[in-house]
Amino acid sequence: MEKKYSSASELLHCGDSVQTLKVSTEAMPLYATTAFTWKTLSEAEATYQRVEQGYDYTYIRTCNPNRDALSEVLTFLEHGEKSQIFSSGMGAISSTLLTLVHPGDHIIYSNCCYGETLDIIRELLTGYGVETSCVDFNDNQNILNAVRPNTKMIYTETVANPAIGLADIPTLAKIAHENGALLVVDNTFTTPIAYKPLDHGADLVINSLTKFINGHSDAIAGSVTGPKDMINKIYHVGMFLGTPSTPMDSWLVLRGVKTIELRLPKQMANAAKLAAALEKDPHVEKVMHPSLESHPRHKLALEMFGSNDRMGAMMSIVLPEDVKKMDDFMSRLHLSHYAPTLGGIRTTFQNPCTSSHRHNSDAERRAAGITPGMIRISVGCEDADDLIADFTQALKAFD
Ligand SMILES: Cc1ncc(COP(=O)(O)O)c(C=O)c1O
Repeated sequence: MEKKYSSASELLHCGDSVQTLKVSTEAMPLYATTAFTWKTLSEAEATYQRVEQGYDYTYIRTCNPNRDALSEVLTFLEHGEKSQIFSSGMGAISSTLLTLVHPGDHIIYSNCCYGETLDIIRELLTGYGVETSCVDFNDNQNILNAVRPNTKMIYTETVANPAIGLADIPTLAKIAHENGALLVVDNTFTTPIAYKPLDHGADLVINSLTKFINGHSDAIAGSVTGPKDMINKIYHVGMFLGTPSTPMDSWLVLRGVKTIELRLPKQMANAAKLAAALEKDPHVEKVMHPSLESHPRHKLALEMFGSNDRMGAMMSIVLPEDVKKMDDFMSRLHLSHYAPTLGGIRTTFQNPCTSSHRHNSDAERRAAGITPGMIRISVGCEDADDLIADFTQALKAFD
């Protein structure tokens, strides 16, 4: 600024010249700006036209470089054509459902999904006149039986929250496509490191990036990945709903996701070891992890994931329903804490009845295999033997 103005006016433009520097950065800068600015109408018009064709930037809710950078990573990881980054996993789920399912359509969904996913289908979609069928996805016949002429979508999680059921993605894709429906898969528990649903016939894949993708428990975001035309439609609805991610959260998740190939193999191997050890512990009534032969779909898990140490880092155990002893067990644990989240580098656990599924009725929970004694464990990057020793000593609370 050449002309001298008052310091209050000049202060507002101080540092602008930095933006004219052409720099190449080692890490993605944080574009924490609500808007990009232009000097002329023609520059504004040209930018808006470029936004429609690809990457350029106008207003924070419609487009932002941090979101774009993160969407490229998700597209790469999930083998899709395009991704859109949302304010949360629920932002991605709600925007996707509201784009693709309309009054008079029918959706078949798994009875074992994240609690608020169940809520949005039951409370919001049914209120808009969408027909819904809630089905146990552990038996493919249930899904076939639920198909109607107006079925538009089959919705499931790959590995289900919290009972660790496994959806038969290739068969579900076949059922969906033979009946003119879309298969939409929430891959949050599994991650694209273990399984890429789009490679096996799913039409869209959703991730809560708040979890393993970020991995550091310090940001919230969500994504949907799939064919360009469908992602573009979801983008427009997300923009109207105001569900795109903030630059800061996208920036944090981009930083976190860069180490996912280091974190997840260790976390998945740890989960298989911990599950095997806890299955032998006499204090534990039941252990759910796809690596266990006792898992009803262990064979399918081997087909889908390849080996026991690649079957995800989420597991659940069932403890005796004695609140005092459960409290004692939890407070004896040194290496993990009750945290109503998952997917961080440290092991955490939660009780679905008091956290993720507290809004669901007892009947709904029991139909999905959720009981008050269930503890869902998100296995971290600690040493596996340390984790096993810590859980083993804490379980003595049930002696
Ligand atoms: C499987 C699954 N999907 C979606 C969500 C929602 O994610 P967010 O909290 O980022 O909205 C969660 C949250 O725990 C989840 O477990």
